[in-house]
Amino acid sequence: MRLVKPSLEWKEQHEEYVAEWGSDRMVPSSMDLSGFDTYDEFLFALDLRAKGEIPWVPSSHYFLIDSQNQIVGMVDIRHELNEFLRTIGGHIGYGIRPSERNKGYATLLLQEALKKCRELQIEQVLITCDEDNIGSAKVIMNNGGLEEDIFITEEGLMKRRFWISVKEN
Ligand SMILES: CC(C)(COP(=O)(O)OP(=O)(O)OC[C@H]1O[C@@H](n2cnc3c(N)ncnc32)[C@H](O)[C@@H]1OP(=O)(O)O)[C@@H](O)C(=O)NCCC(=O)NCCS
Repeated sequence: MRLVKPSLEWKEQHEEYVAEWGSDRMVPSSMDLSGFDTYDEFLFALDLRAKGEIPWVPSSHYFLIDSQNQIVGMVDIRHELNEFLRTIGGHIGYGIRPSERNKGYATLLLQEALKKCRELQIEQVLITCDEDNIGSAKVIMNNGGLEEDIFITEEGLMKRRFWISVKEN
């Protein structure tokens, strides 16, 4: 398994991946292709986002690729926290394609993303999930997440907030 950055060579696979989510909201939303007329437009917008163009904070975006060279998951790493990320979004967002869930891939993807956080010198990583997202909470706890509290959004959504320390000893 490896992480790779989005590029034109993944266009067809990326489109298939998005199609597999059907009407479900794709996570991370930065990797959703809807709203873009071409893949180049998507890559351009992602690059602006990665560079921290307002309103975004700087970020990194990766596909998780399996041994068959298939995209099985996607992850976003936000390098800094703004007000929204500190309460609701967290540093990392991830998703696994529906046909590849429950095989340990999200646990592995988060583990790899935490290595990237260490390289980025983010020592305390905040990860959140919806209160009813048992799978995601397990993924976070599998990676050493310690729950701080639950933040309730204006819409009444309950977000569990976990911290993972990736400080080198
Ligand atoms: C949540 C999600 C990322 C989990 O991915 P995954 O690859 O299936 O997770 P894993 O296989 O690593 O499973 C981790 C644990 O969660 C459990 N789990 C996974 N999905 C579950 C579910 N729907 N309900 C209950 N437990 C679940 C697994 O059994 C495993 O348990 P274990 O550690 O005790 O063995 C995936 O379901 C997904 O992409 N969902 C939509 C997007 C999303 O919610 N992203 C997270 C945003 S915070």
